[in-house]
Amino acid sequence: MIQRTLSIIKPDATARSLDGAILKMIQEAGLKVVAMKRLHLTAEQAGGFYAVHKERPFYNDLCSFMSSGPVLVSVLEGEDAIARYRTLMGATNPEKAEEGTIRKAYAQNIEANSVHGSDAPETAAFEISYFFSQLEIVG
Ligand code: CMP
Repeated sequence: MIQRTLSIIKPDATARSLDGAILKMIQEAGLKVVAMKRLHLTAEQAGGFYAVHKERPFYNDLCSFMSSGPVLVSVLEGEDAIARYRTLMGATNPEKAEEGTIRKAYAQNIEANSVHGSDAPETAAFEISYFFSQLEIVG
């Protein structure tokens, strides 16, 4: 099934100018970038995006981190895009990420883990609409 998923290249990665290298890995994996923008989120905007984690102990730190610098948000499209992008990202904790994954290559720790990807069709729909209008997605 052709799916769309939301990707964020996080502030730790943009600070090290890794956006190009990460996008190359995404495209080489066969995922098509059908929308993209560079943003500097406020803590409130990051909090709205991660509202599902509101009760987690790391929520406030996560909002500060995600608003600490620019992010590159994009919509990726392809066959089973949600699961395929999660495989390409690797485990949330880079110490557990497999060889060949984005987080193994670039993540610094469990918070500054370089990339985000939607985890299910419902979250993908919410996350894509959080950043993009229909007109901004060009398949
Ligand atoms: P992400 O996949 O974007 O989803 C939630 C984010 O919270 C996660 O990546 C990390 O950047 C951050 N985070 C910080 N601490 C934790 C933790 N203990 N467990 C899961 N996510 C964490």
